[in-house]
Amino acid sequence: MAIISIASTKGGVGKTSLAFSLAKDLGYRYATNDMSVTLNKYKNARYYPNNIPLYPDTVYDFGGFVDKNSDEILRESDIIILPTTNDLNSIMKSLILIKNFREKTILVFANMIDNPNDAAIIREKIHEHFPNLAFTYLRRTKLLKNALETGMSATELYEMNNQTRHLYKQAYAEYHKILKLFTTDGRYFKEKS
Ligand SMILES: Nc1ncnc2c1ncn2[C@@H]1O[C@H](COP(=O)(O)OP(=O)(O)OP(=O)(O)O)[C@@H](O)[C@H]1O
Ligand SMILES: [Mg+2]
Repeated sequence: MAIISIASTKGGVGKTSLAFSLAKDLGYRYATNDMSVTLNKYKNARYYPNNIPLYPDTVYDFGGFVDKNSDEILRESDIIILPTTNDLNSIMKSLILIKNFREKTILVFANMIDNPNDAAIIREKIHEHFPNLAFTYLRRTKLLKNALETGMSATELYEMNNQTRHLYKQAYAEYHKILKLFTTDGRYFKEKS
């Protein structure tokens, strides 16, 4: 049982893409305060324009703002996943969000990484201010986009056939590190249950 929030005040960093696949792979509800393409792709997807309710077993996909309501949900979340891309604006916005929620378990999710050095740069910039923050990354890949477009989760798409297993091998391994946190031996999952 977990409440997972995917948040960033920066647009276009991959919140919806990750939230959809995670929710579907975990069999969780997907809840958003943002009109989103996921709504007709997943039967457990719900849109709440305001007063988004707190539920267990839910992945929250918050639009690019934090209001009173999303602030409450973020404070009740077991984990906040913070997608961050390699640009100053995105990193600055992430640092502010981390500062505002520093008592929470936060996973910085460096997304759309073109080479490993980019991930290292983001990690360094974050760790300069918050040395012990959990960090993971996902390369630039069509995995999440193609999954969402077809209505499949990343796992469903990856496992479709030998070709997709080959095509998405590395990206899926990176995505799976996040998924794993919430299954059997998941670190964050265990802490709170
Ligand atoms: N790892 C990745 N590699 C390449 N493209 C990606 C990756 N993750 C997401 N994208 C693409 O980036 C774009 C923005 O992603 P997405 O809509 O998930 O971001 P968002 O943070 O939810 O945006 P918004 O703030 O508008 O809601 C989409 O076209 C998506 O397919
Ligand atoms: Mg979105």
